Amino acid sequence: MPIVPVSPESIARAARLLREGQLVAFPTETVYGLGADATNGIAVARIYEAKGRPHFNPLIAHVASVAQAEEIGRMGAVARRLAHAFWPGPLTLVVERQRECPVSELATAGLDTIAIRVPSHRVAHVLLAAVGRPVAAPSANRSGRVSATQAAHVDADLGAAVAMILDGGPTQHGVESTVLDVSGAWPTILRPGAVTREDLAEVLAGMPGTAAPVVGRPTSPGQLESHYAPAARVRLGATDTRPGEALLAFGPVPFVHRGPVVNLSVTTDLRAAAANLFAALRELDRSGAAVIAVMPIPQNGLGEAINDRLARSAAPR
Ligand code: TXA
Ligand code: MG
Repeated sequence: MPIVPVSPESIARAARLLREGQLVAFPTETVYGLGADATNGIAVARIYEAKGRPHFNPLIAHVASVAQAEEIGRMGAVARRLAHAFWPGPLTLVVERQRECPVSELATAGLDTIAIRVPSHRVAHVLLAAVGRPVAAPSANRSGRVSATQAAHVDADLGAAVAMILDGGPTQHGVESTVLDVSGAWPTILRPGAVTREDLAEVLAGMPGTAAPVVGRPTSPGQLESHYAPAARVRLGATDTRPGEALLAFGPVPFVHRGPVVNLSVTTDLRAAAANLFAALRELDRSGAAVIAVMPIPQNGLGEAINDRLARSAAPR
């Protein structure tokens, strides 16, 4: 079993393994990451292989500091302002690659841009500082499946493929970082996440060239790629349940439900709901129900990221 509790020794060993080109799963404040030395193309290739990723999706380069971010990406005024406001933390910035950027082309999928994030989780931070190189880390789950918010989830999906899983307990936010592209004319949200649209707008307000609100990508259901998919089918906007369905509830349940149920937050707290989301989907999946019915969740604040993940988990496979 590659799960190892966090200690100064285990973090030092994890850093050594990463520098040797091995895969190490580690906790961040959002979800667990499947880490590899981003400057080592072979190590990065192991990530795609372990996840069973069909395409070479670009990966996020995780670094310990803004100074390290500047070495791999060209941080303009907008990027700097956002980094100052949200780093360390769950915001990923897509910027132009630095000319001498040492990150493997495979990690950035041959693009001229690079996604960078400075995580706030203490274990992630200490690990990244010890590695001293950017670490590519997608969420530590099999491709297309539910993200991992606990070490046991990582073990279930990827245990055989990783040298070590650093166990830092359940993650705090539960949904991935917000991916914001600041390489173009104005900031564009590529993936809603733990930093909300409202948080971003507040910091961007008054910056020249960003007066327009942050523009999100159109997400009509037909365009959604299946992702975050449990084994069960997912039915959104449920106002009742049918025989045999499991229920993913949010707030008080105004109808009678018999069968497996997990409530994301009885008190309709969106933070708690985000933190519980992926573990809840995994738990309802284990119940063996063929369908998971999901009660409606408001779209404000973290609701945008939660609904984005749920819409993908319900998308045709
Ligand atoms: O919270 C997180 O972001 C977690 C933890 C482990 O840090 N990581 C994560 O990585 O969610 P991943 O690989 O599952 O998602 C990375 C997202 C993908 O949607 C990818 O397309 C996008 O970032 N991305 C990466 N590089 C990009 C680039 N150069 N341009 C546009 N999108 C990019
Ligand atoms: Mg992922």
